[in-house]
Amino acid sequence: MAMDKELDLSVPSCIHLLSAFLAMEPPDVVISFARECGGDSITEIVQSFIWNHCISKADVKWQGPYLKRFLKKLIVEIESSGGVVLDELYEQYAFYMTSLQDDDVAKENSRVLKRISFLFPDESSGILSCPKSRKLEVQLQCSLNMLEGDTGCSIWPSSLFLSEFILSFPEIFSNKCCFEVGSGVGLVGICLAHVKASKVILSDGNLSTLANMKLNLELNHLRTGTHLLGHHTNCNMVNCVCLPWESASEDELRYFSPDIILGADVVYDPSYLPHLVRVLVVLLKCENSDSEEVQTGSEFDACQRKVTSNATPNAEFSSDPSVKGCVAYIASVVRNIDTLHYFLSLAKQSNLVVTDLTEKVKPFTFLPYVKSYKQSSIRMFRISY
Ligand SMILES: C[S@@+](CC[C@H](N)C(=O)[O-])C[C@H]1O[C@@H](n2cnc3c(N)ncnc32)[C@H](O)[C@@H]1O
Repeated sequence: MAMDKELDLSVPSCIHLLSAFLAMEPPDVVISFARECGGDSITEIVQSFIWNHCISKADVKWQGPYLKRFLKKLIVEIESSGGVVLDELYEQYAFYMTSLQDDDVAKENSRVLKRISFLFPDESSGILSCPKSRKLEVQLQCSLNMLEGDTGCSIWPSSLFLSEFILSFPEIFSNKCCFEVGSGVGLVGICLAHVKASKVILSDGNLSTLANMKLNLELNHLRTGTHLLGHHTNCNMVNCVCLPWESASEDELRYFSPDIILGADVVYDPSYLPHLVRVLVVLLKCENSDSEEVQTGSEFDACQRKVTSNATPNAEFSSDPSVKGCVAYIASVVRNIDTLHYFLSLAKQSNLVVTDLTEKVKPFTFLPYVKSYKQSSIRMFRISY
């Protein structure tokens, strides 16, 4: 069906619709953006946009069951409000009905490919980490089973938060040796490489999570290795190491000697917390005086020139003069307050200095279309020795 008008892909509601679809946000969320695009109605022009930019470009191999669910909801939504559904959408849904079985959705450990778009505001925002395209798109293979790989094959909210944090305050991480504990799908590492950390070391204790993480790094054009010699490596190289907290030796940990440690949603299982705290203590005690001048690529340089002081969130929290040497940033959704208190008490017993930055750290909102995650639900701690 020919449409005489098209939606403009640079309009925020259209960008949000497409980004939410690519990130595989729940169909209701994508549909609410579709309604917004059409002025509270999923008009034929909106449907045409969905067909051209979402459905016809989707990869059934990675998104099949999601596409089927989304199209079903979309068609019901349009019909129930008396609208006319485009033939293409009906035909595609009929195709999914015959080619995709419902139990494909339920298959244990089935994988999907999510495309997470960090949307940078306009040119004047002064964000150091913005790419020329105003968008950084990260592709992540994830499991539909939240528990697969010891929970490491899914994207957890705190890694979205830490990613927004890194992209908002790249100057904290650029030219620094960054080490992440419990890295899961690898999103934080991809953002660290984007802001030109001098070295990125990702770690996890689960082997299938590590394999999935490496695959994700490669999907995002990063080279992976376990070659840790030297403080600086190629910016496109990310080191991945198997590091179960309970068996990591002091010598092994000292070898990493990071400037910054990161952890997203790693404070959840009380039985692992003494081991996690021991790992943090050893890493935080490491001396590292090897940092050099900021290394910047051309895109990064171009973005740096756009800095305007009033538009950039304030990074004062990172320059507390009493904090010297290595620091850790631990972001966490608090699911059980006792678990958090246990972590904090273990940290205190080990002479760690924990500062609650939750109220002080306000990263940019680069993921406005991700409704399943809210910055306000994340607690953020800076830890030093
Ligand atoms: C809830 S997931 C968070 C993953 C990722 N940081 C994120 O936010 O998306 C917890 C991660 O910690 C890892 N993990 C849990 N216990 C661990 C342990 N004892 N040693 C090392 N890694 C562990 C898991 O494999 C998993 O990747």
